[in-house]
Amino acid sequence: MEAPLLVVNLKAYPGAVGDGALRILEALERVQRETGVAVAIAPNHVDLSALASRTSIPVLAQGAVPGKGGARTAKVPIGILPSIGVEGLIINHSENPQSLAEISKLVEEGRELGLWTLVCVPSPAEAMAVASLSPDAIAVEPPDLIGGPISVSRARPEVLLQFSKALSGTYTGFLLAGAGISTGEDSRRARELGMDGVLVASAIAASGEPFKRALDIATGLLDHDQS
Ligand code: G3P
Repeated sequence: MEAPLLVVNLKAYPGAVGDGALRILEALERVQRETGVAVAIAPNHVDLSALASRTSIPVLAQGAVPGKGGARTAKVPIGILPSIGVEGLIINHSENPQSLAEISKLVEEGRELGLWTLVCVPSPAEAMAVASLSPDAIAVEPPDLIGGPISVSRARPEVLLQFSKALSGTYTGFLLAGAGISTGEDSRRARELGMDGVLVASAIAASGEPFKRALDIATGLLDHDQS
């Protein structure tokens, strides 16, 4: 079976930009080497090019708008991402909500550009509409648990169960859980509840010990396969 997936979103945490982003990248490369878990990193836009040019780990944009490059000040059109080695993007993160029409456009343009698309949804209710667009991955993240101390897999296991039930048989991409995932126990439970991996930010990007935390979370993803 395919390796479970750990996607790390660096957001705009002060310790996770510039040199901090590079340090986290190195920690994640080591975690992938040592565990075999598939890892992807979504740095802040300011670091996309620097990271994409120096790693074989997939680098994802944290978001983009549809369309090509051009006179579009302060925008990141999806069309410019492949030219700097970015391999995919997050769409509709709850900190950057997008309309269904925009999500649909981005998934379609991403496919045409050969980019890997990960669409976030706040609850299983939105997942069916997104699944019909066939992105490469869908992550469910209850907004109120994001950045908090209790993970979705612990606080709301029923959300993950509903999510995987709703999509089983109709959707063949990756199912991810996000919000508060901080430990190996959280990621192991997410796997037990039908997830192919996890989407994590603060526990790795704002912890000051990215290798230790990412290793623990990656090991939890594997524990499920070995049990
Ligand atoms: O994109 C990941 C995310 O929103 C979850 O954040 O800090 O709860 O891991 P966090």
